[in-house]
Amino acid sequence: MEALEIAQPEVADFLPLNGTDYLELYVSNARQSAHYFQTAFGFQPLAHAGLETGLRDRESFVLVQDKIRLVLTSPLHGDTDIGRHIDKHGDGIRVIALWVDDATRAYEETTRRGAVPFLAPTREEDEHGYVMRSGIHTYGDTVHIFVERSAYQGVFLPGFKAWEPVYRPEPVGLKYVDHMVGNVGWNEMNRWVSFYAGVMGFSQLVSFDDKDISTDYTALMSKVMSNGNGRIKFPINEPAEGKKKSQVEEYLDFYGGPGVQHIAVATDDIVATVAALRDRGVEFLKVPDAYYSDLLDRIGHIDEEMQSLRQLGILADRDDEGYLLQIFTKPVCPRPTLFFEIIQRKGARSFGKGNFKALFEAIEREQELRGTL
Ligand code: FE2
Repeated sequence: MEALEIAQPEVADFLPLNGTDYLELYVSNARQSAHYFQTAFGFQPLAHAGLETGLRDRESFVLVQDKIRLVLTSPLHGDTDIGRHIDKHGDGIRVIALWVDDATRAYEETTRRGAVPFLAPTREEDEHGYVMRSGIHTYGDTVHIFVERSAYQGVFLPGFKAWEPVYRPEPVGLKYVDHMVGNVGWNEMNRWVSFYAGVMGFSQLVSFDDKDISTDYTALMSKVMSNGNGRIKFPINEPAEGKKKSQVEEYLDFYGGPGVQHIAVATDDIVATVAALRDRGVEFLKVPDAYYSDLLDRIGHIDEEMQSLRQLGILADRDDEGYLLQIFTKPVCPRPTLFFEIIQRKGARSFGKGNFKALFEAIEREQELRGTL
């Protein structure tokens, strides 16, 4: 099936979004996770909150690399909501925070359209100004928090202090969040597509069915939702019937329900970025060497050395507007759930459909090793 471009009626964007503000992961050991994301992914220390800043129940480390902010949060004692989240899901994304000009209006517009409230508009302040935040629930236990920070000059959010450790490995060239993929349950994709369309004013960019995204064994379906200015893109996946277990079903089993499957981060130089990540211990999915033998025939001229792509295992795909280069890490936690994609766009605005088969076969080889295929 061809990718669908679905025309949307031209209406004013009732939920203008400036970009991704931060991603908060609930993890069992925020200090060690922070070390991993510094060391392996080149994130820089930004802010910290915990006992020293007056928190009694949790500790958070905030890391930054260009426009990407990660918040890593752990509970400080038993029997907490954060601890229960970790028990149920393992380490995973709790908050996809979106940067807005008006958090109160974002809350009112979305809840009026049916969003389940998570955080009523709340003003937080310190000596650096104030921030307004509000929030709504999305799939599974994941939430969206709207952050309005135009009146704030502090390092991150009120309550956080600058974190200035001696240890500061170099960045690897990660720039911004390109897209974030949610895995939802059987037959739930369209429900969440409707949520993003109706409640958040997103439109559907493309749709892939199980004929696009299937191998001999596994299948999934996906629709890509985008906000008005295209800065926020959320592909939504659901499992489809195949001969063996869909990778989305494996995710749902291990995550204990719907959640964020991968975070795609953009770079301007994927060869340098991936070489640095690999040297620092990040593990990537491998495609067979045969993938590269007909790659140039499929996608035509590209600026990069084929040998570099082959050595690093970087994939390439072309659409009407240009090409893209991408690669996927192995899961970054014990459960086969959350992973990262590194992507460089050279004109292409699509999602690497031409790589789905090679990629999913690589994932199946990993599933086979895990005994979960
Ligand atoms: Fe992706």
